Amino acid sequence: MTTVVDVDLSQYPYINKGLEGIVAFTTNKSFIDGVAGELIYGGYNINTLAENSTFEEVCFLLWEDRLPTTEELNTLKKALQENRELPENVINFIKSVNKKAEPMSVLRTAVSMLADEDENRDFKSHDVNYERSVKLTAKIPTIIAAFHRVREGHDIVAPLKTGSTSFNFLYMLNGVEPGEKAEKVFDLCLILHAEHGMNASTFTARAVCSTEADIYSAVTGAIGSLKGPLHGGANTAVMNMLLELQKQPNPDPVEFVKGKLARKEKIMGFGHRVYKTFDPRAHHLQKLAKALAEETGHVELYEWSMAILNTMKSEKNIDPNVDFFSATVYYSMGIMPDLYTAIFALSRISGWAGHFMEQMENNRLIRPKALFMLEKNKKWTAIENR
Ligand code: SDX
Repeated sequence: MTTVVDVDLSQYPYINKGLEGIVAFTTNKSFIDGVAGELIYGGYNINTLAENSTFEEVCFLLWEDRLPTTEELNTLKKALQENRELPENVINFIKSVNKKAEPMSVLRTAVSMLADEDENRDFKSHDVNYERSVKLTAKIPTIIAAFHRVREGHDIVAPLKTGSTSFNFLYMLNGVEPGEKAEKVFDLCLILHAEHGMNASTFTARAVCSTEADIYSAVTGAIGSLKGPLHGGANTAVMNMLLELQKQPNPDPVEFVKGKLARKEKIMGFGHRVYKTFDPRAHHLQKLAKALAEETGHVELYEWSMAILNTMKSEKNIDPNVDFFSATVYYSMGIMPDLYTAIFALSRISGWAGHFMEQMENNRLIRPKALFMLEKNKKWTAIENR
């Protein structure tokens, strides 16, 4: 049995579990005021961007720290349209992988395979990494949609050389061109999920970047981090929770949540390391969830969500985060729950890429310390005497 020596932790007041509250970088990408519930991308409030922008414009903002001119935006849109197709080896992988594999696991592998096609060994220059950011942002939607089509027994739908990221993803996923409203709703979801400071997956991307590794390695790591239910995996968990409630003979969301809390279970889609109030993104997603639930006959999902929200507020004084209402929005759009985290990645690639380029341009190897808790320089014991 390993004995932990009794380290007096008070000697080390500086241990911040989970790096809580530690400022490790300067950044132009985003600002979050967790008390006021404010989120700013590159200087623009998320509410301003939600009202006026598009996902492609937000990509440019996150990569260049300013809004694009018309010409620059058209150049970016064209580059995305021209880079949506997948290399043969990735398509063959998607066609052969276990159809029961998790979409985030398939995405992680496929993104990693994209590196094999890139023979440029310059991992540091902004222009080369900008091009790779475009490629990754263009191809991730195709990977997700292609895997979904294959696992459902359908042919892969090739991307169009026209249209927005949102339009193409819904087209490739469903095999039919989306209406203007569906495209606009989805595009707003992508704007809301694009960037969020030093969350676990973005920190992962920066840590990989800090060794001067390539962006494919950084994004592969970030996808792995986002997959967890305490982070991006929460939106799928929220939907599974609502579907569990739906299966009950007489669904009672208040008792359902109270029971989970009594069992010390976390309610997915609630709480946040930074926000100690309503996540500003959740306001927009709540409005979308209400409208879409009513429109598609899933009113009970929204009503249950509000009952859960009110119970969490009254019982734990905890507010919803970005993942809570996004689940109902995607479900009302007919998207399968296990795709929601991959859709989160489809948007957050823009933030990860922005942080990767920012880190590479002002890099210092990320290497914190840990406090050793065991006895040091122990005497050796031969195995027969242990
Ligand atoms: C995202 O960081 C980002 O920016 C992430 C993100 C982004 O855009 O990148 O915003 C996206 O990941 C949003 C979060 C998605 N995760 C979930 O919805 C999972 C459920 N949430 C919790 O696991 C939790 O709120 C965290 C992990 C998100 C944050 O947790 P913290 O900061 O570590 O807080 P904590 O776990 O220490 O909780 C403090 C107290 C605890 O109570 P006590 O043990 O002190 O009595 O609040 C309770 C917790 O039990 N609590 C919850 C809860 N969240 C916190 N109780 C029930 N359900 C919850 N969801």
